[in-house]
Amino acid sequence: EALAQCPFRGTRIGGAIGSAPTTDDWWPNRLQVELLHQESQRANPLRDESYSEAFNKLDYAQLKQDVKDVLVDSKDWWPADYGNYGPQMIRMAWHSAGTYRIADGRGGAGQAMQRFAPINSWWDNGNTDKSRRLLWPIKRKYGASLSWADLIVLAGTVALEIMNFPTTGFAGGRRDAWEPDRSTYWGPEFWNGKPFDESQATGDHKGHPEEMVSPKLRWVGGPKENYHDLENPLAATHSNLIYVNPEGPGGNGDPMDSARNIRESFARMAMNDEETVALVAGGHAFGKSHGMVPAAKIGYAPEAAGIEEMGLGWHNPVGSGNGPDTMTNGIEGSWTPNPTQWDNTYLINLLRFEWKKVESPAGAVQWTPVDSSAPKTPDAHREGVMNDLMMMTSDIALKVDPAYRKVCEHFLNDFEAFTVAFSKAWYKLTHRDMGPKDRYLGPEVAPEDFLWQDPVPKLDHPVVDAADVADLKRRILATGLPVSALISAAWSAASIYRDSDKRGGANGGRIGLEPQNKWELNRPAELDRVLTTYWGMRDEFNAAQSDGKKVSLADLVVLGGCAAVEQAAADAGTEITVPFTPGRMDTTAELTDAESFDWLKPVSDGFKNYHNDQVGYRVQPERIFLDRAQLLTLSVPEWTVLTGGLRVLEQNWDYSKHGVFTDRPGQLTNDFFRVLTSMDYEWKPADQGKTVFNLNDRATGVTKYTATRCDLIFGSNAQLRNVAEVYAADDGQQRFIKDFVAAWNKVMMLDRYDIKDA
Ligand code: HEM
Repeated sequence: EALAQCPFRGTRIGGAIGSAPTTDDWWPNRLQVELLHQESQRANPLRDESYSEAFNKLDYAQLKQDVKDVLVDSKDWWPADYGNYGPQMIRMAWHSAGTYRIADGRGGAGQAMQRFAPINSWWDNGNTDKSRRLLWPIKRKYGASLSWADLIVLAGTVALEIMNFPTTGFAGGRRDAWEPDRSTYWGPEFWNGKPFDESQATGDHKGHPEEMVSPKLRWVGGPKENYHDLENPLAATHSNLIYVNPEGPGGNGDPMDSARNIRESFARMAMNDEETVALVAGGHAFGKSHGMVPAAKIGYAPEAAGIEEMGLGWHNPVGSGNGPDTMTNGIEGSWTPNPTQWDNTYLINLLRFEWKKVESPAGAVQWTPVDSSAPKTPDAHREGVMNDLMMMTSDIALKVDPAYRKVCEHFLNDFEAFTVAFSKAWYKLTHRDMGPKDRYLGPEVAPEDFLWQDPVPKLDHPVVDAADVADLKRRILATGLPVSALISAAWSAASIYRDSDKRGGANGGRIGLEPQNKWELNRPAELDRVLTTYWGMRDEFNAAQSDGKKVSLADLVVLGGCAAVEQAAADAGTEITVPFTPGRMDTTAELTDAESFDWLKPVSDGFKNYHNDQVGYRVQPERIFLDRAQLLTLSVPEWTVLTGGLRVLEQNWDYSKHGVFTDRPGQLTNDFFRVLTSMDYEWKPADQGKTVFNLNDRATGVTKYTATRCDLIFGSNAQLRNVAEVYAADDGQQRFIKDFVAAWNKVMMLDRYDIKDA
């Protein structure tokens, strides 16, 4: 009762800072441009620390020893199965990494988002709160030198090692987030069609709406039926199901359906069939599933639990609530007779025995050997008690799906090949979202280059100096290539960077390689002319040096863009120098995984007024545009100034005039903003879907310009309009040029982990 009172006015429920209704509730379709200002440094208590410096200083061997000690030191508040926390740490690390999705690079282990909503409260992540809490003594000991994100992956990796599995290595370098991520779209998050009702959140099981504790619906917090039905392309074809329902889609117990589900889910993580089998069969060589108590008895997930739970969730009121009474997922049992030892018994058991469906104590569908002479597995807590082996529907899937079965049989007959495949796949899984190897820290970084790392050779020669830069810029401009073409090449190279998994960017010179040089939004014919010129220039320059000094194609592409921006500014009456930092290297086709790289191609890119309608997305272009700005880590002013500048520099992918609100294109002017904010014009939709607009002179009715939604949004959205007004003002031109150049340089440098610390 007391809680239901408004603390300030006492008349309404809620009423405190941040409670509904807020602007988002009033205007749910408003473009939430403030999402660009997440991850504020103000949220980060360690913003004055260099993580790489701190991590490099810690005693890594001692750290690993500390992790090993914790893994076998069972605590009464959460007794370890088999006296070994290893398996639950492997699962936690896998769940931390397994949110990765190649479509937009979001998710993954990189920021330990598992600590925050909604991920900390997914049913899938049940009891990982305990795993993290068990690691707290280590986190406490190392403090700022060890991020949670690194510790989670390290704990899973050390767990594998103490159970005699040869890992491929471990790299530190993950920077923790300090707040929930509001920009990643995980799919609708609700229980049985109803949004989560905060006023019910007492932390006490009593008063739970029944639908909120249904194991089926609580699986990840959303109905399975949404699986194929999410808006393209934000989540591609992939839904809020981060993993796979172990009981089959919708809990239907059908292994073939489950196999389809697994394939789709792991493809999203960029894993092929062999890697998928290696990971699932490898992971389930360890530990057990927990299903002693019906889900209906389990308390709220951490984010909704009572304040006295102190961040933990899923309170289990039955028996001890842990140890032999543990309830996590609902399925009960282990896959092998020796769940704390790396061996091949998972595959032996899966393939050699027939399995039949049974129900777990919690009521979940699982499988047990038909043959009663099949080996038994020791109880995780009770001395001398032996239990039946268990498989999940998702395990049986590996046996019934013909392609998976082939891999299983190969691994069954070649344990060494299985071990190597799991080791490599684990390394990839847990490092996939870290970006270039330049970001890897510590003494156990795997020495080899993997294709999924998008390798770029290390700088191994002197780079151009200021005199060379000036000379090369002169020569580039003297070729007569249009300013717009030079800018397009540089922008196309750099702007596919995505901060989510730190992939893409100008370094490596992949703009000159397939598939990037063929993407239609990169204006391939024109790009080819530019690249041909640069290649010639590069070879000529390098041949003329006597001291081994070199310039790369990657550097020339960026330098050409800088020269062109300077030219465009000069043509508009302002002399300005665009910063240029050499040192990029060119990579090769052999070091490029074309298929994986193709995921970096934007399906929609407002900077170029490019929208690939074939994808059939249902999201408005300006929303995907915001998404791109966020992946580029742009602020609202940076996003605004870059768009306005790129429009007058004619960067539309198809050379259309949409948004080119100027009579002097090619000059770096604030004309885009002046027209955008002018009341001399009115805007008329040119098509039914309101994708294109005519900009008509109010007095004469004559159409002066045309535009897309990605242009208009800067005049219609209140926050964007206010920034546009700054650049449109009579004192705005100089600021516009200065800000454009700064934002341009920022984008050119986003991927330079070879020289920056992040
Ligand atoms: C446990 C499902 C893939 C490692 C479990 C549990 C479920 C599950 C339901 C039991 C959780 C509990 O009640 O405690 C699945 C499904 C997968 C999958 C559906 C994909 C098809 C993987 C992968 C790994 C892995 C790729 C690691 C490489 C583990 C481990 C445990 C476990 C080590 C035991 C945890 C413990 O002993 O506490 N898995 N899993 N799983 N999983 Fe998976």
